[in-house]
Amino acid sequence: MSDLEFFLFLVPLIFAVLIVLNLFKRKQKFPNLPPGNMGWPFLGETIGYLKPYSATTIGDFMQHHISRYGKIYKSNLFGEPTIVSADAGLNRYILQNEGRLFECSYPRSIGGILGKWSMLVQVGQMHRDMRMISLNFLSNARLRNQLLREVEKHTLLVLGSWKEDSVVCAQDEAKKFTFNFMAEHIMSLEPGKTETEQLKKEYITFMKGVVSAPLNFPGTAYRRALQSRSTILKFIERKMEERLTEMKGDESDLLGWVLKNSNLSKEQILDLLLSLLFAGHETSSVAIALAIYFLESCPAAVQQLTEEHLEITRAKKESRVTELTWDDYKKMEFTQCVISETLRLGNVVRFLHRKAVKDVRYKGYDIPCGWKVLPVISAVHLDPSLFGRPQHFDPWRWQNQQGSPSANGGSTGTSSTTKSSNNFMPFGGGPRLCTGSELAKLEMAIFIHYLVLNFHWQLAASDQAFAFPYVDFPNGLPIRIQTNDHSSLL
Ligand code: HEM
Repeated sequence: MSDLEFFLFLVPLIFAVLIVLNLFKRKQKFPNLPPGNMGWPFLGETIGYLKPYSATTIGDFMQHHISRYGKIYKSNLFGEPTIVSADAGLNRYILQNEGRLFECSYPRSIGGILGKWSMLVQVGQMHRDMRMISLNFLSNARLRNQLLREVEKHTLLVLGSWKEDSVVCAQDEAKKFTFNFMAEHIMSLEPGKTETEQLKKEYITFMKGVVSAPLNFPGTAYRRALQSRSTILKFIERKMEERLTEMKGDESDLLGWVLKNSNLSKEQILDLLLSLLFAGHETSSVAIALAIYFLESCPAAVQQLTEEHLEITRAKKESRVTELTWDDYKKMEFTQCVISETLRLGNVVRFLHRKAVKDVRYKGYDIPCGWKVLPVISAVHLDPSLFGRPQHFDPWRWQNQQGSPSANGGSTGTSSTTKSSNNFMPFGGGPRLCTGSELAKLEMAIFIHYLVLNFHWQLAASDQAFAFPYVDFPNGLPIRIQTNDHSSLL
């Protein structure tokens, strides 16, 4: 055997011995790790876990692992030993024990692109400070007095541009709506202006990198996204300097509000604004596209929505107030059922990234300190033991108790039974519960209001929501639109 052959034989042998020893040591210290498969060295099972699948399912990987190992299993994902949880109780336990037993732990690449001060990667006091800013800015008072009007304005801007018997890419239209709204809300950028359109273009490149493999080489989507990130930050910085020199003290947008009311450094403000633009734009636009997609194949729901929204407009005619008010919004009860069902079935955010900061024991299983933990919220939303006929779009399951599904069926008589409302966590939970959840529901409701009052729509070419694991329509969700009898309302 030559030296080279000996070397080629020895290296894998040493690795194999090290892995076996490591597993053995781990087994001794934590004899009750959940069952599972650690997959290949380094890669683990990441490739299988990230393989795209239909967004209204949990995918083959999850299906196979749950049926083989149960709802809590171990794996090796994103280069780290991981506990995956499709268990509703453990998911709640993880989220509620944020900062005590578990901590937010997104892959380093997310921090690289969203910034080290991004809310998604911050923990501890800094996270709490930034969260407070975000909560203040998205408060109920602000939603009622300012954001409702802005959401309505941006909805009308997008839907008002739709032409009779034309085809539009519903996903792009939803993105246009949420981007324009967030850009105005964050930095007072006006829709259609050159600078807004330039920022939008950079942002699209940036987003492609956020969801791509984090390979920082020339020509990769990730590298281009890093370049876009610095262009976007320069843009925001310019806006910030303009404000400071103008000394306007205008608090109507987030930039003005943060400059006046916080002690954050320039770098922190930049990352906060960028991460809010990301968190607020991507998620809501996908949720709106999903609602359009699910409703297209559920005429009974469209019918009931139309009746609900016509009733609201009839009452408004009497009061002679044309804009939607908070009271109108509160009347959109069936719409809220449609929103909940869209979020349950479509699962805009499918799983969260956490790590154990202490050794934890749950239902007899060990979760070792330092291990990654993935609460998979989509697996709970699509669990047949918790949501009857889980792959069926059934807004009526949410009737009677808002925020929680009805256990005894709804008005169609076909409604699917459901166990308990606290299994529904589209916005996460605990101390990191989404701060934009009320805004997201408001955006969806107002968009649906004007959509059903003005248009009929059908898929113009086949398309389907896929989980990559971020949710996307590969063909952009092309729909043919026809104005309907009530279309004079736009
Ligand atoms: C349908 C739309 C949305 C969905 C499904 C959604 C979902 C989520 C989820 C699951 C989390 C928790 C992440 C974690 O725990 O690791 C989260 C966090 C967050 N979301 Fe949303 N979100 C939506 C819309 C929005 C909007 C419109 C905004 C703001 C403009 C927003 C701002 C945030 C922020 C700032 C956080 C971080 C909260 C924290 O760390 O304390 N989201 N979102």
